Amino acid sequence: MCGIIGYKGTENAPEVIFNGLKRLEYRGYDSWGMATANGSGLDIVKQEGELEPSKTTEESNIGIGHNRWATHGKVSKTNAHPHVSCDNRFAVVHNGIIENWKELKEELNGHEYVSGTDSEVIVHFIEEKTGTETVEEAIRDFLNSAKGSFAVGLLDSKEKNLFAFKRGSPLALGVDGEGIFFGSDIYAFSGYTNESLFLEDNEYVVIENGGFVLKDVSGKRIQRKTRKFEWKEEEIDQKEFDHHMIKEIKSIPRTIQKLRTSLHSEQRESLKELKNLIQEHEKVIFTASGTSYHASLLGVFLLQKAGVEAQTLIASEFENYERADENTLVVAVSQSGETKDVLDAIEHSKGKGATIASIVNVPHSSIERKSTVSVRVKAGQEICVAATKTFANQVALFLELARETGIDLKTSELAEKISETIEKNEGKAKKLAKELKDKKDIYIIGRGPAYPVAREIALKLKEIAYIHAEGMMGGELKHGTLALIEEGTPVISLIPENSSEIESNVKEVEARGANSIRIASSGDFEVPECTPEEFTFLATVIGFLLTYYTAKEKGLPVDKPRNLAKSVTVR
Ligand code: AGP
Repeated sequence: MCGIIGYKGTENAPEVIFNGLKRLEYRGYDSWGMATANGSGLDIVKQEGELEPSKTTEESNIGIGHNRWATHGKVSKTNAHPHVSCDNRFAVVHNGIIENWKELKEELNGHEYVSGTDSEVIVHFIEEKTGTETVEEAIRDFLNSAKGSFAVGLLDSKEKNLFAFKRGSPLALGVDGEGIFFGSDIYAFSGYTNESLFLEDNEYVVIENGGFVLKDVSGKRIQRKTRKFEWKEEEIDQKEFDHHMIKEIKSIPRTIQKLRTSLHSEQRESLKELKNLIQEHEKVIFTASGTSYHASLLGVFLLQKAGVEAQTLIASEFENYERADENTLVVAVSQSGETKDVLDAIEHSKGKGATIASIVNVPHSSIERKSTVSVRVKAGQEICVAATKTFANQVALFLELARETGIDLKTSELAEKISETIEKNEGKAKKLAKELKDKKDIYIIGRGPAYPVAREIALKLKEIAYIHAEGMMGGELKHGTLALIEEGTPVISLIPENSSEIESNVKEVEARGANSIRIASSGDFEVPECTPEEFTFLATVIGFLLTYYTAKEKGLPVDKPRNLAKSVTVR
């Protein structure tokens, strides 16, 4: 969470930083700020809420910027980054958490703290240490003293230099002929250059005199070549759609096709390698969070069908349950490739000798770089905080993986069927949204492969429409939840063809007066003739449409739901 960016070059830094912050907005949007250096020192701008182009600093060629997702200290202008040293020489932006900020603060003398953040201690630390040390020595000192995770950008307004250092949080460097950038990911500067390198933990970079030097914690120079990355950037303004979410839902048929093409061409080898690793290992454990976890539940369902003994664990609980060893393959599933809980699960498993593979969307992400084999879901940049097209592509990738292991799955007309489903059901979703918008609770039931979809629709209703929702196995209703079903309670049932078991669960809720909403071949929402695997996609897009229109009906900030961020880089 939180996005950082820095730039030194020939372009106007406030503009470069503002554009970068716009692209990094999905990482946090509680507040934002930037610092640039001019003739007389630092020029600082901080704002609560939305980015405003008219509020940037004066023209300059060097600066840093930040989008905040609050962890320590409430959302306020004072707590917005950058934080500044008492002597106004240094400004700092930070993504992560400094766990020992109190101890560090106690070791420093006579600094005035203005914010309630953990991050402010960094700038006072650098200020105090540079009383007797060089800036680089102070950074190395910090790397040796700080506990926690951090990607930090530091602006020295006296020498007009930039520094960046990291541990645990992502940090990328961008290079073009005219300037040097750093950012939380490649989006930060993808509008300017596609040449990049990634910093590893306990490394820092010095940006001065039109170039950069990469060093480790002992001050030793590191030689690392930049690489060109291929990444088609989505339009930040969604023009013909009201929100990114609906644009992204409607792109699902196209993104699935794109993934399939890649799995039969440039990703053919990595898909095979992943399949081989799965078949070679005694134990296969998937790990993921949120929506990606729901996709992995479907993945496990499909692989079990193919005779592979696999399981999936929620990443934040991984260490409490798993027994990984050198015979274990851990497959991380993540859109961003930066989720801290997933990265921790990977580190933990590596420590036990396990092999790591991954399924990610963002190219060159930390999770991808830590994996022996990684397959990309190829959904392109997703801007709405809620994952929609990336979920569909993760599931589509699992279908191909299961097919690769030998099971016969018929999904050749999937993209067409999804388009048809959207076309036939969008109007119905808009209509039903008017009714659902005032509901406090919604239940979604499914069985077999429809169960993870029920959970996924429930997650969407919570995060985007702010409605309490529970996605569950139809068969579990009678073990407790049925007590909550009363006259008018909405229950959405996912009913693939010929599924008598879920039909009896539907009867159970209807007998208690539920407002029964059926997604079926003939029901309130209608899907074309399809296999159970295809049904999971069709039910998913209907659930997404329903969520979108309910949130829209309520006038909610669909693409940027409160309290959330797209890339969750804290534990
Ligand atoms: C999805 O709609 C959510 N915003 C969230 O659950 C997300 O899926 C989760 O944080 C995992 O993210 P990742 O896929 O980037 O690892």
